[in-house]
Amino acid sequence: MNATVTSPTVNTQVASNNSIKANAIKASFPVRRMDFEFNQVPEYWMNGSAGLTHFMTALSALFPDGEKFFVDSTRAVRNDPKLADPYMQKEISAFIGQEAMHSKEHVGFNQSANFYGHDVKGLEKKTNTVIQTFRKGFLKVAKPFGITQEMIDLTATTALEHFTATIASQLLRNEEIQIKMTDETMYRLWMWHAVEENEHKAVVYDVFETLYGRGPKAYVLRNTALVVAMAALFCTQSYFVYSLLKNDNKLNAKELGSIFKYGYSLKHGIITGMIPELVDYFRPGFHPNDHDTNALLARWKEKLGFNTH
Ligand SMILES: [Fe+2]
Ligand SMILES: [Fe+2]
Repeated sequence: MNATVTSPTVNTQVASNNSIKANAIKASFPVRRMDFEFNQVPEYWMNGSAGLTHFMTALSALFPDGEKFFVDSTRAVRNDPKLADPYMQKEISAFIGQEAMHSKEHVGFNQSANFYGHDVKGLEKKTNTVIQTFRKGFLKVAKPFGITQEMIDLTATTALEHFTATIASQLLRNEEIQIKMTDETMYRLWMWHAVEENEHKAVVYDVFETLYGRGPKAYVLRNTALVVAMAALFCTQSYFVYSLLKNDNKLNAKELGSIFKYGYSLKHGIITGMIPELVDYFRPGFHPNDHDTNALLARWKEKLGFNTH
């Protein structure tokens, strides 16, 4: 399958004074339309393993509403005059375009898993409930400190974007995981998504820093957001895995063992492999581009047949 590349459009209101300049400026990454066909994907597409398939499906159930939240949080602030720079606006548009395409494709896959009787649609709805509960609960605690809902949503997005970039770079690096993706469509879905998460990993971080700076308040806010977001994500994804396995009558030692080995073992675990890069977020002065993935992305774009950018 070939990717269709589209040019992100700039928000015309913000860019009206800069329209001539803006037209000449391009985002640093493209928006690719993939249009995957999921109707031939086998039920246990990951190496024939129910445990591994449900582990990844639980992640996929988080994406449609999770990525919509990222887009909404960024849209809510993009008209701030501090973000009027045409290049920043192009980056934001391209980020929104990529996340919208990810949501679309994960909705497609989740529907195909639903056809096998796995209630992924129900899990998508639970994702939205978790997001709304946390963002409103966080506001109640933080409001006395002058923190707004927009700040909370953006800092949560910044933290979760760091998580997605980190797990994505693990997917691109960890051959033990790649060889288990035995279905070609699903392999391409995850690797395409992983490439793009690394292409746009700095956008929301830069938006956050442009708006709220690098001072102590911003530092505490972004680090608190990472701790809360990781705890919420771990609990939600683990519950989704449990729910998928239980409803599939596969909640047994064999499947749990394969998930542990794949996710949490010291040698090849995707989650354990993420930890050094994940906790680097706490370093004062951290920036997503400190983790250089340019060579890794160049290799994968060639492998996947992405010829532009
Ligand atoms: Fe994404
Ligand atoms: Fe993302």
